Amino acid sequence: TRETPVVVVANRLPVDQVTLGDGSTEWRPSPGGLVAALEPVVQSSGGTWVGWPGAPDTELDPFDADGMHVVPVALSAEEVAEYYEGFSNGTLWPLYHDVTGEPVFERRWWDAYRTVNQRFADAVAEVADGPGTVVWVQDYQLQLVPDMLRRRRPDLRIGFFDHIPFPGWEIYARLPWRKQIIDGLLGADLIGFQRGGDAANFLRAARSTSGVVTRGSVIERGDGRQLRAAAFPISVDAAALDELSRRPETLARAAELRRDLGNPTTIVLGVDRLDYTKGILHRLRAYGELLDEGRLGAPDVVLVQVASPSRERVEEYQRLRDEVEVTVGRINGDHSAVGHPAVHYLHQTFPKEEMAALYLAADVLLVTPLRDGMNLVAKEYVACRHDERGSLVLSEFAGAADELRQAFLVNPWDIDGLKDAVLRAIAVAPAEAARRMRAMRRRVSEFDVHRWASAFLGGLEMVAESKAERA
Ligand code: G6P
Repeated sequence: TRETPVVVVANRLPVDQVTLGDGSTEWRPSPGGLVAALEPVVQSSGGTWVGWPGAPDTELDPFDADGMHVVPVALSAEEVAEYYEGFSNGTLWPLYHDVTGEPVFERRWWDAYRTVNQRFADAVAEVADGPGTVVWVQDYQLQLVPDMLRRRRPDLRIGFFDHIPFPGWEIYARLPWRKQIIDGLLGADLIGFQRGGDAANFLRAARSTSGVVTRGSVIERGDGRQLRAAAFPISVDAAALDELSRRPETLARAAELRRDLGNPTTIVLGVDRLDYTKGILHRLRAYGELLDEGRLGAPDVVLVQVASPSRERVEEYQRLRDEVEVTVGRINGDHSAVGHPAVHYLHQTFPKEEMAALYLAADVLLVTPLRDGMNLVAKEYVACRHDERGSLVLSEFAGAADELRQAFLVNPWDIDGLKDAVLRAIAVAPAEAARRMRAMRRRVSEFDVHRWASAFLGGLEMVAESKAERA
């Protein structure tokens, strides 16, 4: 728990304003790993969260909620289309995930990205307290904010954390605005990444585009200011998930889910935002082939795939949804019986209580992204398995693979390898499964989200202090 209140700046607020069928509005928890990780951090420091309320043209005054001071930043419908759906999720998201989707380079989108980043920087410049206040900017939607903010408020300590991968130079170099983005980030005192490889990719890009000199993780800017770029792997609130997963209601709900699924021998689970980086189609292909070949048999084994709706107005996401639904339909057509679907596909978002019960009910969790910054679903599963049961199949292209070495690690492009891993994870002896789960639980409970935040914020204070000494 930190005493110093932090100002977190992220594209999204932790709550999302949703318009219902009758035109009324309602607040819901926001999707994604960023919010899940940062909410407990901001709450425990009594900090401020600056972000967009998730709906266009929503002008709202600051308010207090769940122990946080919330400062909404409004976006017009056009800015949502060009800055959020366009540049952030049609250009940067696929580019930074090694082009698992097709990045689109639109000059108009770039203009909107700059305008909106300036609006976030201005909002923070207004609300941040006096000298030394820590401002922590989050993720690829806001990469210009560190420099824009420093120009207005050089007295602040500015951190930036990139939740998604940072691509290798050959891919990054395609971006027409590659230098402007690096210069935006170089306004920070500390830049955090999920993996060492991401930090190395960034340092390489910074040397190439902006001519800075780097020594290890230290960056020397031409103007004499120093900053650092290093890996700080993000995590989950392990103690809170452990507690949730032990509640009698959660245990009862897990048992009920198993009954509702027809008491199968094995429940296999997938939990993702419906995103093309997550390898959902590769997973379904592997699972479908195992059923076709009779190596797995419905109804002994069922697959539950939670695919929460995400970025639904972006074309690549609409295409993916169609493909996933056709594929699920085909598997079910071939392998279901009346009352016993082979795949339970849920295009929905569930509260964390229901997710904890699903994790407890699942014998195997499949996490098979083609590229993923960290993947907190894998860590949530581990944090919930206080019974030391359950197996994790994990893509080596997820940041979590650096830490969760006792998972069944897979290359999701290798369908035969993926099939083998699924079968091994299903057949593993209970003692061996428990040994693996114990080791992974030790890791996640020691390196939890609070430890992540203090490591980053401690590092930020050190950089900012050495700067003060030199001055
Ligand atoms: C990922 C990103 C976050 C984002 C989340 C949900 O975790 O790193 O920045 O908030 O996905 O996506 P959305 O576009 O709905 O905010």
